[in-house]
Amino acid sequence: MSAAILDKHQRPLRDLRISVTDRCNFRCVYCMPKEVFGAKFHFLPKKELLTFDELHRAAQIFGRLGVSKVRITGGEPLMRQDLDVLISQLSEVEAVQDIAMTTNGYLLTREKAQALKDAGLKRVTISLDALSDSIFQAINDVSVPVSRILSAIDAATAVGLKPIKVNMVVKRDVNDGQIIPMARHFRHSGVVLRFIEYMDVGNTNGWRLDDVVSAQEILLTLQEEWDLEPMAPSQPGEVARRFRYRDGGGEIGIIASVTQPFCQHCSRIRLSPEGQIYTCLFGSEGFDLRRLLRDETVNDPQIIQALTALWSGRLDQYSLLRSQMTSSSPKVEMSHIGG
Ligand code: GTP
Ligand code: 5AD
Ligand code: SF4
Ligand code: SF4
Repeated sequence: MSAAILDKHQRPLRDLRISVTDRCNFRCVYCMPKEVFGAKFHFLPKKELLTFDELHRAAQIFGRLGVSKVRITGGEPLMRQDLDVLISQLSEVEAVQDIAMTTNGYLLTREKAQALKDAGLKRVTISLDALSDSIFQAINDVSVPVSRILSAIDAATAVGLKPIKVNMVVKRDVNDGQIIPMARHFRHSGVVLRFIEYMDVGNTNGWRLDDVVSAQEILLTLQEEWDLEPMAPSQPGEVARRFRYRDGGGEIGIIASVTQPFCQHCSRIRLSPEGQIYTCLFGSEGFDLRRLLRDETVNDPQIIQALTALWSGRLDQYSLLRSQMTSSSPKVEMSHIGG
């Protein structure tokens, strides 16, 4: 492992989140509402996207800067054609020990899961916000039934993309009644269900603090039904607080980005589909890596130098400072940089 570079708060750079597309086949009301992401919305044309070779080169460069974990996101990453080819290119990067993907599962068939696994993908996280069809469909807004996503979870399990995590964003009066049914469903399955506080990402989801169901409330709800005990983090900087059922039912996670921000340990950098770097999920301005990658007069050491300067000057801790914020510059959309 190379010596990590540290930012202004002494945080090392360890994780790279690559968004491979800004498109998604869902229109989750809290992420890509139809009113905004409708027929007239201008998605990126193919030539604007970083190519697989450019992403491979970027990953090698980030590996030299200390990155050992890569997560593929979107939009919906499986909307990008031949994703398994990219995965195999990324798995050639020596510094990268872990390649994971966050997906909505719609396109994750058994064949696709196997191809991704064979290419070097280690694990997947699948988003599923409810076990009730009517609630799930009201959220995804494209009439996808729960069974389709459960089949994707089965496919990922069958090919060993483990540990499989399921992400449930909890929004008050929308799916908070699904906390218990979801927990009951995934107990004893080996799948780690993670409850996520609804965040104020992007500019289009009309976020209000009242919509957030806090980690504390989620935990109390679960504890009315089951006995839970905290577990140690599995790695430094992990976003989820882990718990296990005392009766051996397995593990759950709670991601409290709003009420218990984890900026102090944030080691993540994000690459958008068109090659902009964001050092924070709530960033409003990216750093143009694509320009450097496409400039034949710029070599890898020069890019490394530029990125070292960028990370070394990093001060971001949006979630910690959220309550003191007064300005409201437009933020990058979550569907653009993948959470
Ligand atoms: P692993 O711990 O490697 O399994 O991945 P992860 O939990 O970081 O990835 P995932 O894409 O599943 O993210 C889970 C939730 O945490 C999503 O709602 C993310 O938006 C949120 N999240 C991830 N990273 C950050 C971050 O840096 N800041 C904030 N505020 N939220 C984050
Ligand atoms: N707050 C919290 N999580 C969100 N996600 C998307 N939008 C939000 C939001 N506003 C989740 C997705 C996915 C992960 C990458 O981020 O459901 O699981
Ligand atoms: Fe929903 Fe994820 Fe697509 Fe956003 S990117 S609309 S959260 S499936
Ligand atoms: Fe990192 Fe920004 Fe998220 Fe804080 S808000 S954990 S700095 S990405």
